[in-house]
Amino acid sequence: MAEKLLQPPDMIEQILSSLPGAILIINQDRQVEYANPLAEQHFGSEGARLVGSLVDNVLPLTESRWNLLMGEVKAFTAGAGKRQPDGEFEVQKRVYQYRLFPVNGRDSEEQQTGIVIWEITEQKQLQDRLIQAEKLASLGSLVSGMAHEINNPVHGILGMAEIIVEEKDPERIKEYATDIVGFAKHVATVVSDMALYIRPATHDGEVEIDLGERLGEALKMVRRNPRFGHVEVVTEFQPVPRLRARRTEIDQVFVNLISNAVQAMDGKGRLTLATRHQGNTITAQVSDTGCGIPKALLNKIFDPFFTTKDPGKGTGLGLSIAYNIVGKYGGTIRVESEEGRGATFTIQFQAGNH
Ligand SMILES: Nc1ncnc2c1ncn2[C@@H]1O[C@H](COP(=O)(O)OP(=O)(O)O)[C@@H](O)[C@H]1O
Ligand SMILES: [Mg+2]
Repeated sequence: MAEKLLQPPDMIEQILSSLPGAILIINQDRQVEYANPLAEQHFGSEGARLVGSLVDNVLPLTESRWNLLMGEVKAFTAGAGKRQPDGEFEVQKRVYQYRLFPVNGRDSEEQQTGIVIWEITEQKQLQDRLIQAEKLASLGSLVSGMAHEINNPVHGILGMAEIIVEEKDPERIKEYATDIVGFAKHVATVVSDMALYIRPATHDGEVEIDLGERLGEALKMVRRNPRFGHVEVVTEFQPVPRLRARRTEIDQVFVNLISNAVQAMDGKGRLTLATRHQGNTITAQVSDTGCGIPKALLNKIFDPFFTTKDPGKGTGLGLSIAYNIVGKYGGTIRVESEEGRGATFTIQFQAGNH
């Protein structure tokens, strides 16, 4: 017995209502013309239906973002845009992803736009937890460097404090006290660098970041590890426009890349850190003269948990997290390498990424 197939628009209506995402169709004035039940449930307020209201009440996006998105939809319709415009927004601590797609209006003059919205709060939380796990994993090697760098000044402080107890000459006492203050300040800086690094990225906001400065700070952190050995460091920092991002996330990207480079060189070689600015593109680069990456592995190294290191030395999360963080700010990361001849990781962002 053949069941009667549902005919559009019933069929479409049924499909739209059973999808696990919210769907809105808006007109050129950004007025909602259609909302599926899930959209009403998630974003509608009691007594006020979504249909007829402005979509600005649903998606908290700025005017300039809307204009950009609408432009992208037009380009996509014309076949010029490479991918459907999308993005993320947050409402009441819940994170949503949205994607826009063109819909042909009843008469071809009137262009409608569809928006599909789905929740990614849990995915985000999982990502944040992974970021935190990798931070804690790399903390092991950072801490051994930190202990070393704290130990020296602490011994200095102790020694001078002991002398002060016996010393009668007020001038000498003053000199020692000044040194003690210097040493203590250094210890405080080391500790606060580390504290900032392990802070979960969720707890800090986006600020204007200088990539050269962050590369330098990441280097300082990794350099404290005795395993840094006799690696020579070359810096080629060109002035670059600032990038809007979370500092602890960018620091983690650079700490990961520099740690990998140092591990690949095993205590000897040359580490080159560079920033460049060309047209609208900001580039940050980390190169080493280490063991390099075999061709067959080049497309695997960004996969989560992919590692060639012994257990306890590598989690295989460093590059996949770097990839996610860079992608989040609209950037790209790529690698060039030849086995035995070192590796170069290049990160690029568009200036004015927000
Ligand atoms: N600079 C580099 N030189 C050589 N190999 C590298 C370099 N950076 C990354 N790799 C390779 O990519 C793999 C994945 O790196 P990553 O995601 O940071 O994880 P992990 O460092 O924990 O192994 C490494 O195990 C290593 O094989
Ligand atoms: Mg790593």
